[in-house]
Amino acid sequence: MIELKSEHELAVMREAGRVVAKVLNAVRERASVGTDLLELDELASTMLDEAGAKSSFRHYHPNWAPMPYPGVLCTSVNDAIVHGIPTGYRLRDGDLCSVDFGAAVDGWHGDAAISFVVGAADPVDLELIATAERGLAAGIAQVKPGNRLGDIGHAIGVIGRKAGYGLTADHGGHGVGRAMHEAPHVPNEGQPGKGLKLRPGMVFAIEPMFTAGGRDDYRYGDDGWTILTSDGSRAAHVEHTVAVTEDGPRILTAP
Ligand code: MF3
Ligand code: CO
Repeated sequence: MIELKSEHELAVMREAGRVVAKVLNAVRERASVGTDLLELDELASTMLDEAGAKSSFRHYHPNWAPMPYPGVLCTSVNDAIVHGIPTGYRLRDGDLCSVDFGAAVDGWHGDAAISFVVGAADPVDLELIATAERGLAAGIAQVKPGNRLGDIGHAIGVIGRKAGYGLTADHGGHGVGRAMHEAPHVPNEGQPGKGLKLRPGMVFAIEPMFTAGGRDDYRYGDDGWTILTSDGSRAAHVEHTVAVTEDGPRILTAP
């Protein structure tokens, strides 16, 4: 079942989204060569407390995971695509870092992710990130009443495919609201005009993840959470929480 959110509920979700945007911005500013990932997780955790918000990720335990998620951030570096657990790893010059963060205010969730390079960037990595951001923007542009779920995936997928990137099979976005993960699944590839009809009050987390090597398969890290490229190539992941409104897309995790 897909619950339509009221204007009041969207306003609360916007508050959660504001916290998410603020924390992601602070993490990006803190992250530099030598910063360890646990320090970033602690920064995010402290900011959550100060905002009176709750982590969407910490203690989250889907049935496929070996243990509850231990952090408030996902920090996915280089060949990690998503769900990287923050460790004592110190960021190195040229690392491609994807940071995903979710927060709840009064039980309503916001979920977003950014990707960036620390230190001196390889232009190839910047292009991968820029393309993922273009994919996200194109997906968001399809979020309007009367469009279909397939329009979102199609817009994202053609951008990734045209660039020769992989799309990470069966991973993608999701409905979001009272729970971080709600129906429907929002694939990063699709057929225009097909699938669920979008209606005002629906809210989706849209999250392209592109892999440089062009492969769609992936593997799990030893921690059972981290999803890595199968060929060791780098990945970029970006995400926003977006509501369908009569006026089109409303990005609830915009800064
Ligand atoms: N944006 C990520 C997703 O929707 C957040 C994962 S949170 C975790 O999959 F707790 F599962 F790590
Ligand atoms: Co998400």
